[in-house]
Amino acid sequence: MLRMKIAIIIGSTRPGRKAEAVAKWVHGIAKRRTNVEVEVVDIQDYDLPLLDEPSPPSLGKYTKDHTKAWSAKIDSFDAFVFVTPEYNHGIPGALKNALDFLYKEWNNKAAGFVSYGSAGGTRSVESLRLVMAELQIADVRAQVTLSLASDFESYTTFKPDPSHEKRVDAMLDQVIAWGGALKTLRQR
Ligand SMILES: Cc1cc2nc3c(=O)[nH]c(=O)nc-3n(C[C@H](O)[C@H](O)[C@H](O)COP(=O)(O)O)c2cc1C
Repeated sequence: MLRMKIAIIIGSTRPGRKAEAVAKWVHGIAKRRTNVEVEVVDIQDYDLPLLDEPSPPSLGKYTKDHTKAWSAKIDSFDAFVFVTPEYNHGIPGALKNALDFLYKEWNNKAAGFVSYGSAGGTRSVESLRLVMAELQIADVRAQVTLSLASDFESYTTFKPDPSHEKRVDAMLDQVIAWGGALKTLRQR
């Protein structure tokens, strides 16, 4: 049986973003597992403009090369971990745009969240969970909330409290369990 593939998606495209260091940390923890393949996926690499497809993504009639490349990448995964900051109590526009570009590629898959902000990015994840429902992504309960004050030295350099590692593992356990269970739906 093929191993489950999990994407760790970098939710910020801002120059000097913290998201990249956070995603690499999650990747390092997830890589310890032998039963899954994990890969960091950087939205920035796909040069997605603001949604520029004429048809609704749910029809899958993609006309642009960037959409086709993004579609092929997301389609190849069974589950996702979204690494997201909080922008004005929501998710970054770049992440919402990247989610909006596709539809079926997200359906019947599982997701977990790692967020950060002054209040752990929790408001960002609450709004992201509403988007997950519409994309038919099963979002797990366990989540990792990092504080700008205590997990980033001088609010800048990522130095996570070691206690977060067990939270990452708890979130991954749920993502792997639901990602595996939903495979049966996707194989129909
Ligand atoms: C446009 C914008 C809005 C922000 N709004 C919030 C916010 O509502 N709550 C919060 O905790 N932090 C907020 N911040 C601070 C971010 O948490 C902080 O800048 C973080 O480093 C952003 O993640 P990134 O570096 O990966 O892009 C905001 C930052 C930006 C750039």
